[in-house]
Amino acid sequence: MFRSQRAITTSFRSAQLARSYASQSAEVTHAFSQPKDANGNYTVTLIPGDGIGPEIAESVRKIYAAAKVPIVWEDADVTPILKDGKTAIPDEAIHSIKKNTVALKGPLATPVGKGHVSLNLTLRRTFSLFANVRPCVSIKGYKTAYDDVNTVLIRENTEGEYSGIEHVIVPGVVQSIKLITYEASERVARYAFNYAQTHGRNKVTAVHKANIMKMSDGMFLTACRAVAKEFPGVEYDEDILDRICLRMTQDPGPFSDRVMVMPNLYGDILSDLSAGLIGGLGLTPSGNIGRDASIFEAVHGSAPDIAGKNMANPTALLLSSLMMLRHMRLYDFADKIEEATLSTIAEGKHITRDLGGKAGTQEYTEAIIKRLE
Ligand SMILES: NC(=O)c1ccc[n+]([C@@H]2O[C@H](COP(=O)([O-])OP(=O)(O)OC[C@H]3O[C@@H](n4cnc5c(N)ncnc54)[C@H](O)[C@@H]3O)[C@@H](O)[C@H]2O)c1
Repeated sequence: MFRSQRAITTSFRSAQLARSYASQSAEVTHAFSQPKDANGNYTVTLIPGDGIGPEIAESVRKIYAAAKVPIVWEDADVTPILKDGKTAIPDEAIHSIKKNTVALKGPLATPVGKGHVSLNLTLRRTFSLFANVRPCVSIKGYKTAYDDVNTVLIRENTEGEYSGIEHVIVPGVVQSIKLITYEASERVARYAFNYAQTHGRNKVTAVHKANIMKMSDGMFLTACRAVAKEFPGVEYDEDILDRICLRMTQDPGPFSDRVMVMPNLYGDILSDLSAGLIGGLGLTPSGNIGRDASIFEAVHGSAPDIAGKNMANPTALLLSSLMMLRHMRLYDFADKIEEATLSTIAEGKHITRDLGGKAGTQEYTEAIIKRLE
Protein backbone atom coordinates (compact mmCIF):
# COMPACT_ATOMS: atom_id res chain seq x y z
CA MET A 1 0.00 0.00 0.00
CA PHE A 2 1.33 3.45 -0.79
CA ARG A 3 0.62 6.84 0.63
CA SER A 4 -1.69 9.11 -1.26
CA GLN A 5 -0.12 11.65 -3.58
CA ARG A 6 -1.36 14.38 -1.28
CA ALA A 7 0.44 12.85 1.67
CA ILE A 8 3.69 12.62 -0.27
CA THR A 9 3.37 16.19 -1.52
CA THR A 10 2.71 17.40 2.01
CA SER A 11 5.73 15.54 3.33
CA PHE A 12 8.01 17.05 0.74
CA ARG A 13 6.56 20.49 1.35
CA SER A 14 7.22 20.08 5.05
CA ALA A 15 10.73 18.88 4.38
CA GLN A 16 11.33 21.89 2.15
CA LEU A 17 10.18 24.08 5.01
CA ALA A 18 12.96 22.36 6.96
CA ARG A 19 10.44 21.21 9.52
CA SER A 20 8.70 17.90 9.51
CA TYR A 21 7.06 16.70 12.68
CA ALA A 22 5.80 13.74 10.76
CA SER A 23 5.80 10.05 11.44
CA GLN A 24 4.28 8.28 8.53
CA SER A 25 6.22 6.16 6.15
CA ALA A 26 5.49 4.49 2.85
CA GLU A 27 5.13 0.89 3.90
CA VAL A 28 2.10 1.53 5.98
CA THR A 29 1.41 -1.74 7.72
CA HIS A 30 1.10 0.57 10.71
CA ALA A 31 -1.06 3.09 8.85
CA PHE A 32 -3.94 4.82 10.54
CA SER A 33 -7.22 3.37 9.30
CA GLN A 34 -9.84 4.24 11.91
CA PRO A 35 -13.11 5.32 10.29
CA LYS A 36 -14.70 8.64 11.33
CA ASP A 37 -17.71 8.47 13.64
CA ALA A 38 -21.19 9.72 12.67
CA ASN A 39 -20.16 13.29 13.61
CA GLY A 40 -17.06 13.20 11.44
CA ASN A 41 -14.65 12.75 14.36
CA TYR A 42 -11.86 10.31 15.16
CA THR A 43 -11.39 8.95 18.67
CA VAL A 44 -7.91 9.24 20.16
CA THR A 45 -6.78 7.78 23.48
CA LEU A 46 -5.30 10.42 25.77
CA ILE A 47 -3.06 9.35 28.63
CA PRO A 48 -2.43 12.55 30.61
CA GLY A 49 0.27 10.83 32.68
CA ASP A 50 2.03 11.93 35.87
CA GLY A 51 3.55 15.13 37.24
CA ILE A 52 3.13 17.93 34.68
CA GLY A 53 1.28 15.50 32.36
CA PRO A 54 -2.28 16.62 33.21
CA GLU A 55 -1.36 20.34 32.78
CA ILE A 56 0.28 19.95 29.39
CA ALA A 57 -2.45 17.53 28.22
CA GLU A 58 -5.04 20.18 29.14
CA SER A 59 -3.13 22.69 27.04
CA VAL A 60 -3.29 20.39 24.02
CA ARG A 61 -7.00 19.79 24.58
CA LYS A 62 -7.72 23.54 24.63
CA ILE A 63 -5.62 24.25 21.54
CA TYR A 64 -7.32 21.40 19.65
CA ALA A 65 -10.75 22.67 20.63
CA ALA A 66 -9.81 26.17 19.37
CA ALA A 67 -8.48 24.76 16.09
CA LYS A 68 -11.62 22.59 15.75
CA VAL A 69 -9.60 19.42 15.17
CA PRO A 70 -12.05 16.58 14.47
CA ILE A 71 -10.94 14.47 17.42
CA VAL A 72 -12.76 13.12 20.43
CA TRP A 73 -10.39 12.37 23.31
CA GLU A 74 -10.87 9.16 25.25
CA ASP A 75 -9.03 9.51 28.56
CA ALA A 76 -7.13 6.48 29.79
CA ASP A 77 -5.63 5.97 33.20
CA VAL A 78 -2.50 3.83 33.17
CA THR A 79 -1.86 3.86 36.92
CA PRO A 80 -0.44 0.35 37.40
CA ILE A 81 -2.62 -2.39 38.87
CA LEU A 82 -1.61 -5.74 40.32
CA LYS A 83 -2.45 -8.62 37.99
CA ASP A 84 -1.43 -12.17 38.91
CA GLY A 85 1.04 -10.68 41.38
CA LYS A 86 2.66 -8.46 38.72
CA THR A 87 2.16 -4.78 37.98
CA ALA A 88 0.30 -4.20 34.74
CA ILE A 89 -1.47 -1.50 32.75
CA PRO A 90 -5.26 -1.52 33.40
CA ASP A 91 -7.23 -3.44 30.77
CA GLU A 92 -9.43 -0.41 29.92
CA ALA A 93 -6.36 1.56 28.81
CA ILE A 94 -5.09 -1.34 26.69
CA HIS A 95 -8.54 -1.79 25.09
CA SER A 96 -8.84 1.92 24.37
CA ILE A 97 -5.47 2.05 22.55
CA LYS A 98 -6.17 -1.22 20.72
CA LYS A 99 -9.54 0.06 19.53
CA ASN A 100 -8.41 3.55 18.53
CA THR A 101 -4.92 2.50 17.27
CA VAL A 102 -3.62 5.94 18.10
CA ALA A 103 -2.81 7.60 21.42
CA LEU A 104 -1.25 10.75 22.82
CA LYS A 105 0.66 10.12 26.01
CA GLY A 106 1.94 12.37 28.75
CA PRO A 107 5.03 11.41 30.77
CA LEU A 108 4.89 8.50 33.19
CA ALA A 109 7.05 8.46 36.32
CA THR A 110 9.21 5.36 36.72
CA PRO A 111 10.74 4.35 40.05
CA VAL A 112 14.53 4.11 39.81
CA GLY A 113 16.22 0.78 40.64
CA LYS A 114 13.10 -0.76 42.29
CA GLY A 115 9.31 -1.08 42.07
CA HIS A 116 7.19 -1.72 38.99
CA VAL A 117 8.71 -2.12 35.56
CA SER A 118 8.65 0.96 33.35
CA LEU A 119 5.12 1.44 32.01
CA ASN A 120 6.70 3.09 28.99
CA LEU A 121 8.51 -0.16 28.24
CA THR A 122 5.33 -2.14 28.90
CA LEU A 123 3.38 0.01 26.42
CA ARG A 124 6.12 -0.40 23.81
CA ARG A 125 6.05 -4.17 24.19
CA THR A 126 2.26 -4.49 24.41
CA PHE A 127 1.73 -2.64 21.12
CA SER A 128 4.94 -3.69 19.33
CA LEU A 129 5.98 -0.05 19.07
CA PHE A 130 9.04 -0.95 17.07
CA ALA A 131 10.26 2.46 15.87
CA ASN A 132 10.70 5.60 17.90
CA VAL A 133 10.88 8.64 15.62
CA ARG A 134 12.44 11.79 17.03
CA PRO A 135 12.75 14.88 14.87
CA CYS A 136 14.73 17.81 16.33
CA VAL A 137 14.44 21.12 14.51
CA SER A 138 15.83 24.52 15.58
CA ILE A 139 13.04 26.79 16.74
CA LYS A 140 13.10 30.30 15.32
CA GLY A 141 13.17 32.90 18.06
CA TYR A 142 14.73 30.61 20.60
CA LYS A 143 18.46 31.21 20.38
CA THR A 144 20.75 28.25 20.90
CA ALA A 145 24.36 27.58 19.88
CA TYR A 146 23.19 26.49 16.40
CA ASP A 147 20.34 27.80 14.22
CA ASP A 148 20.36 24.98 11.70
CA VAL A 149 19.59 21.80 13.60
CA ASN A 150 17.27 19.53 11.64
CA THR A 151 17.86 15.93 12.60
CA VAL A 152 15.65 12.85 12.42
CA LEU A 153 16.56 9.89 14.62
CA ILE A 154 14.83 6.54 14.41
CA ARG A 155 15.48 4.31 17.36
CA GLU A 156 14.78 0.59 17.60
CA ASN A 157 12.30 0.51 20.43
CA THR A 158 11.69 -3.06 21.55
CA GLU A 159 14.96 -4.75 22.43
CA GLY A 160 18.71 -4.05 22.58
CA GLU A 161 19.96 -2.87 25.94
CA TYR A 162 16.36 -2.30 27.07
CA SER A 163 15.24 -5.90 26.81
CA GLY A 164 15.05 -5.91 30.61
CA ILE A 165 16.91 -9.22 31.04
CA GLU A 166 19.15 -8.82 34.07
CA HIS A 167 20.28 -11.24 36.73
CA VAL A 168 22.75 -11.69 39.53
CA ILE A 169 25.32 -14.33 38.64
CA VAL A 170 26.98 -14.33 42.07
CA PRO A 171 26.76 -11.59 44.69
CA GLY A 172 28.58 -8.57 43.32
CA VAL A 173 28.30 -9.69 39.70
CA VAL A 174 25.28 -8.71 37.61
CA GLN A 175 24.66 -9.55 34.00
CA SER A 176 22.47 -7.44 31.72
CA ILE A 177 21.65 -8.87 28.31
CA LYS A 178 21.59 -6.79 25.16
CA LEU A 179 19.33 -8.65 22.82
CA ILE A 180 19.45 -7.90 19.10
CA THR A 181 17.37 -9.81 16.59
CA TYR A 182 17.65 -9.69 12.83
CA GLU A 183 13.88 -9.36 12.55
CA ALA A 184 13.61 -6.23 14.72
CA SER A 185 16.73 -4.70 13.13
CA GLU A 186 15.37 -5.25 9.63
CA ARG A 187 11.95 -3.89 10.59
CA VAL A 188 13.30 -0.64 11.99
CA ALA A 189 15.79 -0.27 9.12
CA ARG A 190 12.98 -0.65 6.58
CA TYR A 191 10.93 1.94 8.42
CA ALA A 192 13.92 4.33 8.37
CA PHE A 193 14.49 3.90 4.63
CA ASN A 194 10.79 4.38 3.91
CA TYR A 195 10.78 7.47 6.09
CA ALA A 196 13.83 8.89 4.26
CA GLN A 197 12.28 8.21 0.88
CA THR A 198 8.95 9.84 1.74
CA HIS A 199 10.37 12.85 3.57
CA GLY A 200 12.87 14.14 1.03
CA ARG A 201 15.87 12.92 3.01
CA ASN A 202 17.91 10.92 0.60
CA LYS A 203 20.30 9.29 2.99
CA VAL A 204 20.20 6.80 5.86
CA THR A 205 23.07 6.55 8.33
CA ALA A 206 23.18 3.51 10.62
CA VAL A 207 24.71 4.45 13.98
CA HIS A 208 26.52 1.63 15.80
CA LYS A 209 29.36 0.32 17.95
CA ALA A 210 30.06 -2.75 15.84
CA ASN A 211 33.77 -2.09 16.31
CA ILE A 212 33.25 -3.30 19.91
CA MET A 213 29.99 -5.28 19.79
CA LYS A 214 30.85 -7.15 16.65
CA MET A 215 28.09 -9.74 16.79
CA SER A 216 25.08 -7.75 18.06
CA ASP A 217 25.69 -4.40 16.39
CA GLY A 218 27.32 -6.29 13.54
CA MET A 219 24.02 -8.04 12.85
CA PHE A 220 22.13 -4.75 13.14
CA LEU A 221 24.37 -3.43 10.33
CA THR A 222 23.91 -6.60 8.26
CA ALA A 223 20.14 -6.03 8.41
CA CYS A 224 20.52 -2.34 7.47
CA ARG A 225 22.77 -3.23 4.51
CA ALA A 226 20.26 -5.81 3.25
CA VAL A 227 17.40 -3.31 3.46
CA ALA A 228 19.54 -0.62 1.76
CA LYS A 229 19.59 -2.82 -1.37
CA GLU A 230 15.79 -2.48 -1.56
CA PHE A 231 16.17 1.31 -1.77
CA PRO A 232 18.71 2.03 -4.51
CA GLY A 233 17.60 5.67 -4.60
CA VAL A 234 18.52 6.27 -0.97
CA GLU A 235 22.19 6.67 -0.10
CA TYR A 236 23.38 4.53 2.82
CA ASP A 237 26.34 4.83 5.15
CA GLU A 238 27.39 3.87 8.66
CA ASP A 239 29.09 5.72 11.46
CA ILE A 240 30.20 5.00 15.00
CA LEU A 241 28.12 6.45 17.84
CA ASP A 242 30.91 8.38 19.57
CA ARG A 243 32.08 9.93 16.31
CA ILE A 244 28.51 10.99 15.48
CA CYS A 245 28.19 12.64 18.95
CA LEU A 246 31.38 14.58 18.36
CA ARG A 247 30.42 15.64 14.83
CA MET A 248 26.86 16.61 15.77
CA THR A 249 27.95 18.83 18.63
CA GLN A 250 30.64 20.46 16.48
CA ASP A 251 28.36 21.11 13.51
CA PRO A 252 24.83 19.64 13.30
CA GLY A 253 24.12 21.26 9.89
CA PRO A 254 25.36 18.37 7.70
CA PHE A 255 22.99 15.93 9.42
CA SER A 256 19.90 17.60 8.02
CA ASP A 257 20.12 15.59 4.80
CA ARG A 258 19.53 12.19 6.40
CA VAL A 259 17.69 9.86 8.72
CA MET A 260 19.79 8.17 11.41
CA VAL A 261 18.75 4.70 12.54
CA MET A 262 20.18 2.87 15.54
CA PRO A 263 19.67 0.34 18.33
CA ASN A 264 17.69 1.29 21.40
CA LEU A 265 20.14 2.78 23.91
CA TYR A 266 22.11 4.77 21.32
CA GLY A 267 18.85 6.30 20.11
CA ASP A 268 17.86 7.26 23.62
CA ILE A 269 21.14 9.06 24.25
CA LEU A 270 21.67 10.60 20.82
CA SER A 271 18.15 12.00 20.70
CA ASP A 272 18.64 13.78 24.02
CA LEU A 273 21.89 15.17 22.63
CA SER A 274 19.91 16.42 19.63
CA ALA A 275 17.25 17.85 21.95
CA GLY A 276 19.97 19.75 23.81
CA LEU A 277 21.09 21.32 20.53
CA ILE A 278 17.64 22.86 19.94
CA GLY A 279 17.10 24.07 23.49
CA GLY A 280 16.09 21.13 25.60
CA LEU A 281 13.50 18.53 26.29
CA GLY A 282 10.62 20.99 26.49
CA LEU A 283 10.71 21.30 22.70
CA THR A 284 11.27 17.76 21.52
CA PRO A 285 8.44 15.52 20.22
CA SER A 286 8.43 11.84 19.39
CA GLY A 287 6.28 9.13 17.87
CA ASN A 288 6.30 5.44 18.72
CA ILE A 289 5.23 3.65 15.59
CA GLY A 290 3.86 0.17 16.00
CA ARG A 291 2.22 -2.71 14.24
CA ASP A 292 -0.99 -2.56 16.27
CA ALA A 293 -1.05 1.10 17.33
CA SER A 294 1.05 4.25 17.41
CA ILE A 295 1.65 6.31 20.54
CA PHE A 296 2.93 9.86 20.42
CA GLU A 297 4.68 11.43 23.40
CA ALA A 298 7.03 14.19 24.50
CA VAL A 299 10.60 13.08 25.10
CA HIS A 300 10.74 14.69 28.55
CA GLY A 301 9.64 13.11 31.83
CA SER A 302 7.04 14.05 34.44
CA ALA A 303 9.10 16.99 35.82
CA PRO A 304 7.94 16.51 39.43
CA ASP A 305 9.89 19.63 40.48
CA ILE A 306 7.48 21.92 38.62
CA ALA A 307 4.27 19.84 38.63
CA GLY A 308 1.10 21.76 39.50
CA LYS A 309 2.89 25.13 39.36
CA ASN A 310 1.69 26.35 35.94
CA MET A 311 5.34 26.36 34.82
CA ALA A 312 5.43 23.46 32.37
CA ASN A 313 6.10 24.02 28.69
CA PRO A 314 3.49 22.03 26.70
CA THR A 315 5.31 22.47 23.36
CA ALA A 316 6.88 19.01 23.21
CA LEU A 317 3.55 17.26 23.80
CA LEU A 318 1.86 19.61 21.35
CA LEU A 319 4.50 18.94 18.65
CA SER A 320 4.15 15.20 19.35
CA SER A 321 0.42 15.59 18.79
CA LEU A 322 1.19 17.23 15.42
CA MET A 323 3.19 14.14 14.44
CA MET A 324 0.05 12.24 15.41
CA LEU A 325 -2.22 14.46 13.29
CA ARG A 326 0.04 13.89 10.27
CA HIS A 327 0.00 10.17 10.99
CA MET A 328 -3.82 10.50 10.85
CA ARG A 329 -3.46 12.49 7.61
CA LEU A 330 -4.99 15.60 9.21
CA TYR A 331 -2.29 17.72 7.58
CA ASP A 332 -4.09 21.06 7.45
CA PHE A 333 -4.88 21.05 11.16
CA ALA A 334 -1.29 20.11 11.95
CA ASP A 335 0.08 22.91 9.75
CA LYS A 336 -2.25 25.49 11.31
CA ILE A 337 -1.39 24.60 14.92
CA GLU A 338 2.31 24.34 14.12
CA GLU A 339 2.32 27.82 12.60
CA ALA A 340 0.47 29.28 15.62
CA THR A 341 2.86 27.60 18.06
CA LEU A 342 6.12 28.44 16.33
CA SER A 343 5.11 32.04 15.70
CA THR A 344 4.17 32.43 19.39
CA ILE A 345 7.64 31.20 20.37
CA ALA A 346 9.33 33.35 17.70
CA GLU A 347 7.55 36.46 19.01
CA GLY A 348 8.92 35.66 22.48
CA LYS A 349 6.31 37.64 24.49
CA HIS A 350 4.44 34.71 26.02
CA ILE A 351 7.00 31.95 26.32
CA THR A 352 7.56 29.74 29.35
CA ARG A 353 10.44 30.00 31.82
CA ASP A 354 12.44 27.08 30.43
CA LEU A 355 12.70 29.12 27.20
CA GLY A 356 13.73 32.26 29.07
CA GLY A 357 10.25 33.80 29.25
CA LYS A 358 7.92 34.60 32.13
CA ALA A 359 4.63 33.12 30.96
CA GLY A 360 2.89 30.27 32.70
CA THR A 361 1.55 27.21 30.89
CA GLN A 362 -1.90 28.80 30.62
CA GLU A 363 -0.77 32.18 29.30
CA TYR A 364 1.36 30.48 26.63
CA THR A 365 -1.59 28.25 25.68
CA GLU A 366 -3.89 31.29 25.40
CA ALA A 367 -1.34 33.07 23.18
CA ILE A 368 -1.33 30.12 20.77
CA ILE A 369 -5.14 30.01 20.81
CA LYS A 370 -5.32 33.73 19.91
CA ARG A 371 -3.33 33.01 16.78
CA LEU A 372 -5.74 30.27 15.81
CA GLU A 373 -8.77 32.55 15.94
N1 LIG B 1 8.45 9.14 28.36
C1 LIG B 1 8.27 9.22 29.67
O1 LIG B 1 7.19 8.99 30.18
C2 LIG B 1 9.44 9.62 30.52
C3 LIG B 1 10.63 10.10 29.95
C4 LIG B 1 11.66 10.50 30.78
C5 LIG B 1 11.52 10.40 32.16
N2 LIG B 1 10.35 9.90 32.68
C6 LIG B 1 10.12 9.85 34.15
O2 LIG B 1 9.88 11.19 34.63
C7 LIG B 1 10.34 11.31 35.96
C8 LIG B 1 11.22 12.54 36.12
O3 LIG B 1 12.38 12.35 35.32
P1 LIG B 1 13.56 13.40 35.20
O4 LIG B 1 13.45 14.40 36.31
O5 LIG B 1 14.82 12.63 35.02
O6 LIG B 1 13.35 14.11 33.80
P2 LIG B 1 12.29 15.24 33.40
O7 LIG B 1 12.31 15.31 31.91
O8 LIG B 1 10.99 15.00 34.03
O9 LIG B 1 12.88 16.62 34.01
C9 LIG B 1 14.21 17.08 33.76
C10 LIG B 1 14.24 18.61 33.94
O10 LIG B 1 13.60 19.21 32.81
C11 LIG B 1 12.50 20.01 33.23
N3 LIG B 1 11.39 19.78 32.30
C12 LIG B 1 11.01 18.60 31.76
N4 LIG B 1 9.96 18.76 30.97
C13 LIG B 1 9.65 20.08 31.01
C14 LIG B 1 8.62 20.87 30.40
N5 LIG B 1 7.71 20.34 29.57
N6 LIG B 1 8.59 22.19 30.67
C15 LIG B 1 9.50 22.75 31.47
N7 LIG B 1 10.51 22.06 32.08
C16 LIG B 1 10.56 20.73 31.85
C17 LIG B 1 12.14 19.53 34.64
O11 LIG B 1 11.52 20.55 35.40
C18 LIG B 1 13.49 19.09 35.18
O12 LIG B 1 14.16 20.20 35.74
C19 LIG B 1 11.02 9.99 36.30
O13 LIG B 1 10.13 9.19 37.03
C20 LIG B 1 11.30 9.36 34.95
O14 LIG B 1 11.35 7.96 35.00
C21 LIG B 1 9.31 9.54 31.91
